[in-house]
Amino acid sequence: MSGAPVDLDDIQGLVRFGYKHHTEACFLLLRVTDPVAARAWLARAPVASAATTEPPPATVLQLALGSEGLRALGVAENTIAGFSAEFLSGMGQDPSRARRLGDTGANAPGAWLWGSGTQIPHVLLMLYALPGHLPAWQATVEAQCAAGFEIMRRLPCGELRGNEPFGFADGISQPMLDWRRDRAVRDAEQLRYTNLSCLGEFLLGYPNEYGGYTDRPLLDPQRDPQALLPRAEDAPHRADLGRNGSYLVMRQLQQDVDGFWQALDQLADGDPALREKLATAMVGRTRNGHPLLPTAKSSPPDLNAFTYSEDPRGTLCPLGAHIRRANPRTADLPPGDPGMVSWLMRTLGFDAQSLEQDRVASTRFHRLLRRGRAYHQAQGPDGAETGLHFICLGASIARQFEFVQGAWLHAPHFDGLRNESDPLLGSRAPAADGTATDSFSIPQAQGADQRLPGLPQFVTLRGGAYFFLPGIRALRYLASQGAAP
Ligand code: HEM
Repeated sequence: MSGAPVDLDDIQGLVRFGYKHHTEACFLLLRVTDPVAARAWLARAPVASAATTEPPPATVLQLALGSEGLRALGVAENTIAGFSAEFLSGMGQDPSRARRLGDTGANAPGAWLWGSGTQIPHVLLMLYALPGHLPAWQATVEAQCAAGFEIMRRLPCGELRGNEPFGFADGISQPMLDWRRDRAVRDAEQLRYTNLSCLGEFLLGYPNEYGGYTDRPLLDPQRDPQALLPRAEDAPHRADLGRNGSYLVMRQLQQDVDGFWQALDQLADGDPALREKLATAMVGRTRNGHPLLPTAKSSPPDLNAFTYSEDPRGTLCPLGAHIRRANPRTADLPPGDPGMVSWLMRTLGFDAQSLEQDRVASTRFHRLLRRGRAYHQAQGPDGAETGLHFICLGASIARQFEFVQGAWLHAPHFDGLRNESDPLLGSRAPAADGTATDSFSIPQAQGADQRLPGLPQFVTLRGGAYFFLPGIRALRYLASQGAAP
């Protein structure tokens, strides 16, 4: 062990658990109406921690705060200023960010149901329940917070079945967190792909994969006279508002399931086996989650034990397949000078000029912990809709979510490709230089790539926001702030 033990009681459970037994879930987007009452509820909100309990609780509450929410609660500006620039700016408030993320055209913030204009959530409540327990749990929580908040939007989730709406197994590849703090950073072994991530990649207040501590609000201890907050590991004279917290990215991604399968049917000329093969190539896994490359032998089989090093041209798994773009594992290191210094430079990402150019940096700085849930809304205020409430956690929204979304999924030049972006997520809008992005290429062992042209848009962004998922002590500290009544 290379650090103090982790205080699981102070970490929200979502960082450690996907709550898979809690097959029912609903997300509530709130706005503060009465800061005093809102803070009073936040001071005692029954937020579940990452400590294991047997049996698991029937119901779970998790809670995250937006930067406008911190302001609405009355948290001091010089405290808020310690959070990251992208969290403060918000997902949908900056046109250049929207462009980088591909949030233009039908995905543009101006067209969102929530997350821009007057519809920016202050607080996100995530409610999980064992089968049958959600309705009563939701009614209880809504009644508890009614005095301080209004419900801006309810986002009910579908029953958790392990498949996303297009029909593919989801939630297979996740980074493993180094809860025991065994992993030494910057050792030679880390030039190989590993699934184990330093805790500081997902929790603020711990060393990350660079061996440093991600910036976060560190306060003068006089501002925490009751010592509600932990002290910073790297600056013991400062109170650490970030420790045991994470950033949370949420995107409501509507999926056109009929459109997806109809387009593939047309491309396959009605041949069901070919249709399946094309869909599999786009995702990079079969419907039941098997990767397209052989996995290391184990029993039971580990569907995650593979890299792309044996498939540099993408003849087994296309270079542009969704899972290869989202986590290129070993394949993001382009062929070139194999010298150690150059490899280290590229692996550590020091030669990156900008996010756009930083396609060669190793994937270990760009992992996401995904916690999304599918939704099916038979009829709601906005009609029938199916999709994914995409949620991911990370210590840096810019280096993790924004990099993966912008430089890997959305970028038309990813890994030497041209004229395409992510086959599932692409908006198909022409790139900034006018080139088309609406095709998908499937390299062949022999001869030219098979090219699927003219793909329509399958996924539309309906709303989104950045949040801070505080440690539980940090939540109580934030609830104690603000002007006296
Ligand atoms: C409606 C939208 C989406 C659908 C249908 C979708 C579907 C899938 C599926 C089927 C997998 C394979 C199963 C797995 O490994 O868990 C997967 C993996 C993954 N997706 Fe998505 N996804 C969507 C959006 C996103 C977004 C917005 C991001 C990131 C910004 C993302 C990042 C990832 C990552 C990191 C993986 C794991 C890759 C790996 O480590 O091999 N996905 N997705």
